[in-house]
Amino acid sequence: MSNPPFPNNPIPSAPIPNTHILSCEFDYLEPTSLEEAVALLARYGSQARVLAGGTDLLVQMKMERIVPHYLVSIGRLPGLGGIVLRDSGLWIGARTPIRAVRNDPWVRARYPALAEACAAFSTTQVQVMGTIGGNLGNASPASDTAPALIAFDAEAIIRGPGGERRMPVEDLFVGPGRTVLEAGELITAVVLPPPLEGTGSAFLKVARVTADLAKVNAAVRVVRQGNRIADARLVFGAVAPTPLRARRAEAVLVGQDFSAEAMAEAAQVAAEEIAPIDDIRSTAWYRREVTRVLAYDGLFRAWERADQPPVAPIGAPTGMIAEPPPGPSRHIPADQELEVRFVANGEPCRVWVRPNELLLNVLREKLHLTGTKYGCGIGECSACTVQIDGRLALACLVLAVAADGHHILTVEGLAGKDGKLHPLQQSFIDHAAFQCGYCTPGMLMTAEALLREIPHPTEEDIRDYLKGNICRCTGYAATVRAVMNSLPLVGIPKPQVST
Ligand SMILES: Cc1cc2nc3c(=O)[nH]c(=O)nc-3n(C[C@H](O)[C@H](O)[C@H](O)COP(=O)(O)OP(=O)(O)OC[C@H]3O[C@@H](n4cnc5c(N)ncnc54)[C@H](O)[C@@H]3O)c2cc1C
Ligand code: FES
Ligand code: FES
Repeated sequence: MSNPPFPNNPIPSAPIPNTHILSCEFDYLEPTSLEEAVALLARYGSQARVLAGGTDLLVQMKMERIVPHYLVSIGRLPGLGGIVLRDSGLWIGARTPIRAVRNDPWVRARYPALAEACAAFSTTQVQVMGTIGGNLGNASPASDTAPALIAFDAEAIIRGPGGERRMPVEDLFVGPGRTVLEAGELITAVVLPPPLEGTGSAFLKVARVTADLAKVNAAVRVVRQGNRIADARLVFGAVAPTPLRARRAEAVLVGQDFSAEAMAEAAQVAAEEIAPIDDIRSTAWYRREVTRVLAYDGLFRAWERADQPPVAPIGAPTGMIAEPPPGPSRHIPADQELEVRFVANGEPCRVWVRPNELLLNVLREKLHLTGTKYGCGIGECSACTVQIDGRLALACLVLAVAADGHHILTVEGLAGKDGKLHPLQQSFIDHAAFQCGYCTPGMLMTAEALLREIPHPTEEDIRDYLKGNICRCTGYAATVRAVMNSLPLVGIPKPQVST
């Protein structure tokens, strides 16, 4: 079959907004209890939005697609972050970062399709900032975690003015950007039931580039009894207005003996069952072709895994993530400034900011820390990477008010107080990785976090960790070489160099 021509990209009818600022004005609310958050969301209804990691919401606001009057931050609500084993299954709090889900030993061992979905998710920075609750609240048809959660029959726990309710994750979505959540409601957690004996799962994704949203993604789960398929889930993203469970394709498999023909038939039915569209990422035709291939490959991979003895988790689940510091709730009106205090590169700082000011602008324009660069402004280039309390953050997507009380590290703080360069900085110079002043600060900040997160990184780990730090000039060979050569300087043996 020949590939039909790609449709013309739509020509934007409106001018592209300035993504270096947040032009809309809003009140910033920081409740400190779930009850208070629910009451605020109920009071302000459609004028309010929950703010979690901000990786989607602040981008939408910068692009002027969403203009809320009230942002209700869940950053200081207790009990919303962590991964814990409970009677009903594995509980993952809504504020748990995608990166934490990806790294959790129980998720990796018992729910590999979810771990793979989180690994395939965007850049390291967005994985660290973005939350699982935000990924569901976002209701993107191309969400990576939703198909995996649906494949595991996960439930969402929702809190609202009427108390708590639970529902299958599959039932959360109504259409692109729309959920069944009512005024005052927010997702507090998802729960994955314990996997049945003989379960195997896999997640596959095809995207334009490694850190992009999916053209198509697929989460597959099978339950194997001997050579018989006792149960099956085939769930796809970016092929319909909501993540889509292909029930007709599943019905082809359940109760059948495993065979390549059965897999191929189910994959073909899945490709017919989806409802894809042409858009900037792909065409409907291509999406159908890819769906067929991903379904087939995913089924094989899941089936093989189901045949292996259950993998023992290397360690306990993550547990509850450190709670936010206690303090009073805050309501900062749109037109008022708040005095924000934080420590930047070891120096105490005080700045007055409005709710819509971004950390990037404050660092550069008020504190003159210009090492952190403006790039895209929407989370895609990582030129603005800093660390907040040791965690990676894109300063273009962080409200300055949210930095209050935290420790910020920028590239200016990497060198010692005596002026001695950090081993990474020295290695970048020694190995010609200082390619341009625009991208290097973000690369250094990311690489520094890598050295702390991954004890013995391989070349592949380094490439994956830095995948969001875009270079438009020379390439990544020198950067990867510099990071590898910095390892012995910080006491880590150097892996084999293949670049
Ligand atoms: C460069 C870039 C690449 C991306 N790549 C991917 C990708 O590969 N895969 C992917 O799936 N996504 C991707 N995203 C989208 C986004 O990062 C994810 O959806 C992320 O999980 C959102 O989480 P957040 O905590 O940042 O949510 P926020 O941006 O804070 O919120 C997103 C939406 O969910 C709502 N919300 C947040 N928390 C809750 C809650 N607890 N209950 C109810 N509603 C809530 C908010 O009101 C908002 O409408 C990408 C984004 C960027 C900027
Ligand atoms: S400027 Fe922040 S990611 Fe590009
Ligand atoms: S390092 Fe900046 S464009 Fe290549």
